[in-house]
Amino acid sequence: MKPIRVGLLGIGTVGAGTFNVLQRNQEDIRRRAGRGIEIVMVAARNTERARQLTGGQVDVVTDPFAVVNDPSIDIVVELIGGYELPRELVLKAIANGKHVVTANKALLALHGNEIFAAAQEKGVMVAFEAAVAGGVPIIKALREGLTANRIESVAGIINGTTNFILSEMRDKGLDFATVLKQAQELGYAEADPTFDIEGVDAAHKLTIMSAIAFGIPVQFDKAYIEGISQLQAVDIRYAEQLGYRIKLLGITRRTQTESGEGIELRVHPTLIPTARLIANVEGAMNAVLVQADAVGASLYYGKGAGSEPTASAVIADLVDVTRLATVDPYCRVPHLAFQPNEMTDVAI
Ligand code: HSE
Repeated sequence: MKPIRVGLLGIGTVGAGTFNVLQRNQEDIRRRAGRGIEIVMVAARNTERARQLTGGQVDVVTDPFAVVNDPSIDIVVELIGGYELPRELVLKAIANGKHVVTANKALLALHGNEIFAAAQEKGVMVAFEAAVAGGVPIIKALREGLTANRIESVAGIINGTTNFILSEMRDKGLDFATVLKQAQELGYAEADPTFDIEGVDAAHKLTIMSAIAFGIPVQFDKAYIEGISQLQAVDIRYAEQLGYRIKLLGITRRTQTESGEGIELRVHPTLIPTARLIANVEGAMNAVLVQADAVGASLYYGKGAGSEPTASAVIADLVDVTRLATVDPYCRVPHLAFQPNEMTDVAI
């Protein structure tokens, strides 16, 4: 069977990782997917760099629409980030009958409802494992592994940059700005790092997980969001002395309200007793704790940011799409009443 043809939009940190891992493990990946997966076209602003990274083996263009409109491309991988241009590109790719793989949590948190509806109508797949928790397969766990369960809550550390900052400030006594710079150099931070620091990136990811866990549309605008920019080294030290770690948590769970059942969606710094597993998640690692009725508590832990961990998730989606296992990107169940967030305790 002929290899499936992939067009890559953007070849930054994750794009380069995707290209490298696909090359390195191509035989195993081909066997698992049932056919070869070939990146044949890349859209990049810096074409020279793109040619170097891909060893001159692929067609490099500057116009991303040239990729989504190319009739020979089967799957478009969107890795350019941002909201509006990716929205246009993804919708165009879908309209052209192409499957889409994206790592873009901002895009899905804001425009996911429109994009998933378009994909469902067209009968193509939009896969997005890499959008949440980097290399940790939490989307597949929520959507497939836990599908028998009624999920009660999903809570965890879902931003590697802020967890790295908090860990390094505590362990090495470094200041916020120095550690942020390191996180940027290591390829953890967003193009605009205020998204990390102010909790917006975590809220994007939480919104996506909440939609899958509870079968609701994405509702980013309902999230309570508070980041770590107000935290000082002294807060971290005092927390430690009192037997706690400060972690930026994303929490979504069922809640009872006056008008019935609702869903909470919130991101904020949280004091966690140091004896808890999640308090000991350090550096750019992510950890997501899911509470569900049949399986009980389950914890998903791993590298939440960086080039190859995220590429691992992108390629998992490429394999899934190549297998054409499903055309339904998330399970649609009735919309639950969504109430303003309440700042209540949650047991982690
Ligand atoms: N900026 C993100 C983070 C990248 O630090 O977690 C992975 O989504």
